[in-house]
Amino acid sequence: MTTPSSGSVSTGSVSTGTVSSVPSTSRLTRAAGDTANFVDERTSIGAFTKFMARKLFPDHWSFMLGEIALYSFIVLLLSGVILTAFFVPSMDQVTYDGGLAQLHGAEMSKAFESTIHMSFDVPGGLLMRQIHHWAALIFTASIVTHMARIFFTGAFRKPREINWLVGFTLMIMSLAAGFTGYSLPDDVLSGNGLRIIDGVILSIPIIGQYISYGLFGAQFPGDVLIPRMFTAHILLIPGIILALVALHLFLVFMQKHTQHPGGGRTDKNVVGLPLFPVYTAKAGGFFFVVFGAIALLGAAFQINPVWNYGPYDPSPVSAGTQPDWYMLFIDGGLRIMPGLFEVVIGGYTLSLNVLIPAVVLPGLFFGFLALYPWIEKWATGDRGEKHVLDRPRNAPVRTGLGVAIITFYVVLVLEGSNDIVANVFHLSINDLTIMFRILVFALPVAAFMITKRIAMGLQRKDRELVLHGEETGRIVRFESGEYIEVHEPISEQERWVLVSYANLKPQEIGPEANEHGVRRKGARWRRFKAALSRFYFEDRVEPVTPAEVAEAHAHHAAEIEAKKNAEPYDAASSHV
Ligand code: HEM
Repeated sequence: MTTPSSGSVSTGSVSTGTVSSVPSTSRLTRAAGDTANFVDERTSIGAFTKFMARKLFPDHWSFMLGEIALYSFIVLLLSGVILTAFFVPSMDQVTYDGGLAQLHGAEMSKAFESTIHMSFDVPGGLLMRQIHHWAALIFTASIVTHMARIFFTGAFRKPREINWLVGFTLMIMSLAAGFTGYSLPDDVLSGNGLRIIDGVILSIPIIGQYISYGLFGAQFPGDVLIPRMFTAHILLIPGIILALVALHLFLVFMQKHTQHPGGGRTDKNVVGLPLFPVYTAKAGGFFFVVFGAIALLGAAFQINPVWNYGPYDPSPVSAGTQPDWYMLFIDGGLRIMPGLFEVVIGGYTLSLNVLIPAVVLPGLFFGFLALYPWIEKWATGDRGEKHVLDRPRNAPVRTGLGVAIITFYVVLVLEGSNDIVANVFHLSINDLTIMFRILVFALPVAAFMITKRIAMGLQRKDRELVLHGEETGRIVRFESGEYIEVHEPISEQERWVLVSYANLKPQEIGPEANEHGVRRKGARWRRFKAALSRFYFEDRVEPVTPAEVAEAHAHHAAEIEAKKNAEPYDAASSHV
């Protein structure tokens, strides 16, 4: 079943793919050659460039998600540099007398004033603000969808666990970048967001008040937070993201990119196209597509009109005030939690109603995500390298868990918008919250079970396809009056995709005691691993083996032959 697919094949880290060079004598080509020689003679970079340019990359649309994250980050940097030239990171109070008449005489911080100035008095300032904000939303959304692609296809498995952790840290950093940026204008919305975060920090026992004091420099809101957040937002966080992105992409290069299953693709080769010129051209073009789409959003769709909200003031808190989408789950967690769990111990108040939804829950959630590659490795016990991706249906439990996590997240997001949902659907906000309290537990479990069953159903369908071929819709009637539907065998390429997945089974834990009757150490741990392994692999659909394929095909051929011999097939009397 070795059918080569299109593209070049590389069996090591250095590809054997060919890169065609087009001889040209034009002045431009010669100038480019001379420049390359000049640089190579002084840096010896030629061999490295050749190695990189010939590196093969497998192709799939889902690999674009990481690229979107990368390009929107570049747009963030470019637009952010322009915003930095006009933003004043200061909480000093001023009375507004700028270009926007409706705010004349309003008391506000210099940060808010400079945001208004940028939006109404600086040519192109509002466009830059909007491009920056849209780029931030697309950056976080593409990171999360990229992470989902890595999760559902199992791209985090050995040797990419470290890169998963690097990516995970990037995701956390992107949330930090988004939150600090969102808070800079010092408007009512962001100020209230900060007040919520201060409340969350204060709910942490013992150290909470010190962290709060360290951040705000006084009791909330203080007058140092905006300058501090500004430094973090424009220097510290982008610096960390840049360094981590470099490490992330370096690891992608060194470990080679994974590939989707297909004819001829194995864990020991790479089937794809060379970085130069194919991907360089594609990636360059795609950057401008992403940039263009973000610029279009920034130009046509209003975002964060802070002048409508007004400068920060602790008193006005209205309904319909949601943070950006990536922080909504914390808001949802806080809203969903019954306010019953506040205990006083030795004069200290323990706000479990804040601590649990906003600290413990996200901690467990993110901890689970960070450790997921190892959790799955314990369950499989498989130590081999994996370069061919899983089709989500072939990992039913993982796919079920992924869908359950997304469902859990969506319920929290909806609860975070419960006032809007109640308003739009004319429902009681209290009834909605009670419903979400039930759904937050029930829906993820249901989503897990349904997804797992669907995945296994699809696996069974794949088995049918491999063994009995594709239904053609052609019905043939034999002389005896019997009808059969003609099935056509699927192609070798398709069969490769449908049968090539690992047949993982629950791990055996072995006897509790050794041959001398002495209890083996770590029995509890082994039992836990075995239970985890059973959870993953007890229910499974095994891939079709070559013997089964051969047997099914022989059986079909014999059946048709037998029918033909028993009742000679008469084309004139058959209906197709
Ligand atoms: C600033 C954020 C990020 C950027 C710019 C970024 C960029 C990229 C790019 C361009 C690729 C190669 C193309 C692709 O497979 O999509 C990639 C691969 C990868 N990323 Fe990310 N990524 C980011 C965040 C993340 C996150 C949050 C995770 C997971 C927690 C992650 C895990 C991975 C892994 C494991 C690979 C290798 C995939 C493979 O070989 O199939 N990345 N990333």
